[in-house]
Amino acid sequence: MSFVHVCICISVLVSQSLSVNKDNFKSCDQSGFCKRQRNYEPGESTYIALLNSLKTTSTSIELQLLNKKNSVKLLLQVIGLQDNTIRVKINELSPLKLRYEIPYGEVITKQPVQQEIKVDGSSQKGVTFTVGDTTGVISAEPFRMDIFSSNEPVISLNARNLLKFEHMRVKPGWFSSIGSGLKSWFSQPFRETPQPDPPNDDHEAESDHKEGENEEGKEENEENKEDEPKDEPNMWEETYKTFTDSKPNGPTSVGMDISFPGFQFVYGIPQHADSLALKTTKNSDPYRLFNLDVFEYDIYSPMALYGSVPMMIAHNEKKTVAVFWHNAAETWVDISSNVADKVADFVQGNNEIPQTDTHWFSESGIIDLFIMMGPRPKDVFRQYALITGTTALPPLFSIAYHQCRWNYNDEADVAAVEENMDKADIPFDVMWLDIEHTDGKRYFTWANDKFPNPKDMIGKLSSKGRKMVIIVDPHLKKDDSYDVYTDAKSKGYFVKNKDGSDYEGWCWPGTSAWPDFINPDVQQWWASKFVYDTQPGSTPDLFVWNDMNEPSVFNGPEVTFLKDLIHHGGVENRDVHNIYGLYVQKATADGLVLRSGGRDRPFVLTRAFFAGSQKYGAVWTGDNMGEWSHLKISIPMILSLNIAGITFSGADIGGFFKNPDAELQTRWYQAGSFYPFFRAHAHLDTKRREPYLLPEENMKIVRDAIRARYSLLPYLYTQFYLAEKDGRPIMQPLWVEFPEETATFGIDDNFLLGPALLVRPVTEQGATTANVYFPGSDQIWYDVQTYAQFSGGQEKNIDAPLNKIPVYQRGGTIIPRKMRIRRSATLSYQDPFTLIVCLDKQAKALGHLYADDYRSFQYKNREYIHRGLIFENNQLESKNFDRNSKYTTKEWIEKIVIAGFKKTPNKIFLKKSDGSTIELGHSFNSENKVLTIRKPDVNISEDWRITIN
Ligand code: GLC
Repeated sequence: MSFVHVCICISVLVSQSLSVNKDNFKSCDQSGFCKRQRNYEPGESTYIALLNSLKTTSTSIELQLLNKKNSVKLLLQVIGLQDNTIRVKINELSPLKLRYEIPYGEVITKQPVQQEIKVDGSSQKGVTFTVGDTTGVISAEPFRMDIFSSNEPVISLNARNLLKFEHMRVKPGWFSSIGSGLKSWFSQPFRETPQPDPPNDDHEAESDHKEGENEEGKEENEENKEDEPKDEPNMWEETYKTFTDSKPNGPTSVGMDISFPGFQFVYGIPQHADSLALKTTKNSDPYRLFNLDVFEYDIYSPMALYGSVPMMIAHNEKKTVAVFWHNAAETWVDISSNVADKVADFVQGNNEIPQTDTHWFSESGIIDLFIMMGPRPKDVFRQYALITGTTALPPLFSIAYHQCRWNYNDEADVAAVEENMDKADIPFDVMWLDIEHTDGKRYFTWANDKFPNPKDMIGKLSSKGRKMVIIVDPHLKKDDSYDVYTDAKSKGYFVKNKDGSDYEGWCWPGTSAWPDFINPDVQQWWASKFVYDTQPGSTPDLFVWNDMNEPSVFNGPEVTFLKDLIHHGGVENRDVHNIYGLYVQKATADGLVLRSGGRDRPFVLTRAFFAGSQKYGAVWTGDNMGEWSHLKISIPMILSLNIAGITFSGADIGGFFKNPDAELQTRWYQAGSFYPFFRAHAHLDTKRREPYLLPEENMKIVRDAIRARYSLLPYLYTQFYLAEKDGRPIMQPLWVEFPEETATFGIDDNFLLGPALLVRPVTEQGATTANVYFPGSDQIWYDVQTYAQFSGGQEKNIDAPLNKIPVYQRGGTIIPRKMRIRRSATLSYQDPFTLIVCLDKQAKALGHLYADDYRSFQYKNREYIHRGLIFENNQLESKNFDRNSKYTTKEWIEKIVIAGFKKTPNKIFLKKSDGSTIELGHSFNSENKVLTIRKPDVNISEDWRITIN
């Protein structure tokens, strides 16, 4: 949401259909490097690999690549990484200035563990190598690289000859005009850049970066200036609207094609408001990755949005592979497909092997590509998690229901909302305050007239186990009486103009400056602002929401920073644009950890993000509309985030703009109750729409949906715990669990929550039925309300009146629930569990139950319970999954429901860990085949076994 639009939008909010103003954002044609890269058609590749430059270590291969046209050399490094992963780096051999590489720390936590790479042979044609199960061929002339899995090609680099690396140059006519002193200054690196990864065994490594090579490279540049690419407009300066980008380094873009032979489907590269399966961009712009605040964003569009994860998965019935383009500059991705493009062109009779071709280009930095070889979806998620980390286990309250709006006006308003929620018996865990809670949009302050006693207000919420979240945006109001601003200013912590002065722009508070979160000192300084004694009104139950951190600058080009702004270490915003928001969230999360002395888990919601943001909290999909189409697209948007590692994500329930009617709100709550992050939010100018304001019938349905979410929290929490270990998505496309089922590859209106629940939210106005796709021909799916059974491998039209969410538990799974209705999740910490066992065709089932203190980091000190639940041979057993764990709790099991139980049971016995055996009461419904076992009353930390005779 941008300031210039605030006023005009107010009147149109209710009535008109809104859409993005495309004039505010560049098309590819308006972006110099995008146009150059996209239109690049060299015919034959200009690059050859110089085989006589081959150097190997036990984990890496190095080769020089020569651009035949201008004689500039690149350095190719191929590095074997653990778990079937290969890293391919391409940089200039002798850059005039070092090019930006994202340092280890936040995106990639540390240098990934390397694995042996064997060179199997080299000939005049090229080099073949093996890493684990993967073989690769580097062809010399022209240069290309093909990666094989079980002897089948799965990924090819530069197969379409689109490698285009704009080497650093001196502006034509400029270098020769300056004195030798300036010349030698210019050839110095302008900051410290990480050097290529050292191999595991140093003694074998031979560096190619010899003394004086910068000089040599410079000479080469000088010598070959005849062969330089012809200057085009936009290379040395680029103007967009009234903004001029001074481009001090000239053209520095990097681009390469990546093909996926054998794959028709590719997914990922969020954030776009588009289908889950990525589309051909033949007749559109490429998918753009550039963190932007896009007002009234269009849907089914490749336009950039608030966050970027340059990670793509290719999937077919036999294999799953992925690539991660580790570059934080503006990036575009073109996609073409021999199948999809033909369909689009109405060409008949396509018998070819499908292939998806992609073309990636970034404005600066280097090519740093991680190739994850799968071979199945779960392997790819784990491999990607080894590189960028997993979603940190959130505190339990944060996966419950959040009540937000711009704005809850004052303390009385907050109290009234809470009271009304309680009167309507609707559970909720968190009240949110937007920007109006501050004194004139000065973050870390309160509007004293409206919120005179924030601690008391939060204390009242806490007394019912609830929390508060307040917004803290990264722009700081330019105001000499605002201590956070003056503190940052005096320390020199703001992002700078190219002349070294503090950059200023407009955001909510008017003229503002932005702390330079790229600077680790600034991150620490920001974190310190959240310490209890420092942050006014803070308590352990106050958490944070970071918004506008793309960053959004109302009077900036494309509503963001100028690309030639300068960050820590002399780095241009051009190089780091897409990671700014990640650092804001990271520094905030650090602050929340710091304030409790490292004891409590943080909760921070962010709008902008990058690969790796999953480590720092939750993400939402920004300013959507209260329209049916936006409800529908929220599902593929969250699925795309989930498969790209950002699992803790959701969309504003009800839509941010406009006034959704009761039916849309009801359907949105039903869908949203299955989002990993479940928050209702609304624009300042929308009508109030807390769920208790709905007509009675709708309110009850919404209440049921929210209560159902609460009953599922133990399952969801367990999934988050497992996801922290192995990077699995929480909300999953069907093909993740059913990778061989081709019919699922294009589906994005059905999804799985964890492995066990199939959800098909109704997203169509007036619909009373829904087509549900039940995957897995050998599966049974059980309606979670009636336990009616459906066979897998079919699509079925299901009755779905307004009070029905089509949700099904997979046969063969066990889900822990808590059925007692409480005001908040925190009040349910000690409540007993109900286990829902749905049997598969072999009358078996498996499940996990994870529990801890639900809020602190003590689980990292083994204070948790992780049980395996196993049903077979008419016995249900609870086994300790982790002998190292040592947590004790009062939580116990009060009921067990077994669906799909075929014969009437006679007697049921429980054997406890102390050896005692007792008989349990039960009832059996022979019609729907549901056996209910009453009151086993066993503590969840115990071993026990139930035998059904
Ligand atoms: C942005 C956010 C929105 C928030 C508003 C005011 O538009 O996306 O959620 O309510 O700013 O802070």
